[in-house]
Amino acid sequence: MNTLLAIESSCDETSLAILKKGQLSGLTISSQIALHQPYGGVVPELASRQHLSVIHPLLNQTLKESGVALADLDAIAVTVGPGLSGSLLVGVAVAKMLGALLSIPVYGVNHMEGHLYSVRLEHEVPFPYLCLVCSGGHTQIVLLSRAGSHQILGETRDDAAGEAFDKVAKMVGLPYPGGPSIDQLASTAGNPLAHKFPRPMKKAGYEFSFSGLKTAVRKAWLDSDRSESARADIIASFQEAVVDVLMTKLLRAAKDYEVQRIAVVGGVACNSRLRIELQRCSDVYDIFVPSPMFCTDNAAMIGRAAWDLRKCAGLQSGPHLDVRVNLPMLNQSNESPCVK
Ligand code: KG4
Ligand code: ZN
Repeated sequence: MNTLLAIESSCDETSLAILKKGQLSGLTISSQIALHQPYGGVVPELASRQHLSVIHPLLNQTLKESGVALADLDAIAVTVGPGLSGSLLVGVAVAKMLGALLSIPVYGVNHMEGHLYSVRLEHEVPFPYLCLVCSGGHTQIVLLSRAGSHQILGETRDDAAGEAFDKVAKMVGLPYPGGPSIDQLASTAGNPLAHKFPRPMKKAGYEFSFSGLKTAVRKAWLDSDRSESARADIIASFQEAVVDVLMTKLLRAAKDYEVQRIAVVGGVACNSRLRIELQRCSDVYDIFVPSPMFCTDNAAMIGRAAWDLRKCAGLQSGPHLDVRVNLPMLNQSNESPCVK
């Protein structure tokens, strides 16, 4: 796996990366935000067609930028799930075709494991570390004891944090994707203390629930005069509630499991309010948050996960590689012992 091509096409970003011995040497990302914005969310059929039309030009661009020829590649890593089936199939089909053509292995990577290891692109974070994975589809607190060995301590029972951002933004008429829209509005306007929204399941454990909070926001919005200032106050207070719950649970887990290093990954890790709160803890814990381009979906993290998991049985490969829309993140402590 000295020169690895990584491909990510699970949702609305087409991305390719070249990694040399686990270090990023080239990355391209083509975002579909403008394509889906008029619909207020991702339209799966449009997403897969767009992946299909950009993936080959992106491949050429990525190879060119990193000064690598196809013949130099000795492995390919591709996201096999979770995600949209049509979108995943585009990346997997290209990966398998290239693998067959070049006679090199193709490794299937779990998108969520990509996020888990994304933090290691910029810092060789020593194990163990605690990782809050906060994306559009998942909210999980994961303890990584070593590469390929992790334990999910808690996850959401309903909406993911990113999903709550997206749904609340849509509710109050802010553009898709909701997370960046809310972040931007809340950092320039709105009083985060204007509404005392519920902090679901805050008092105990590591599980999350955001659907009750979403309902409380809807009620506040319907009861308001729908003015710009009412909207800003509701949005800022909503963001405050989400960040409060995420931080409380994360710090509880860090204390209970006596870990010193904390990573926060996934699209919601771009949130500026969350980053401020994380920064506040940096005198007590070693905090690692990827640069924004590595928080949202990208192929670099898929390549890095493949590199970190290269000696683990959990990394599947071969001609029968298929996509799995609901691919769960396995507790790999028991299921894929690493080769020492
Ligand atoms: O990890 P990601 O790019 O894709 C998934 O795997 O889902 O995460 C996308 C999610 C979306 O819900 C988006 O609204 C959210 O991350 N997001 C943010 C911010 N930037 C992206 N949420 C809050 N604040 C942000 N600045
Ligand atoms: Zn993601």
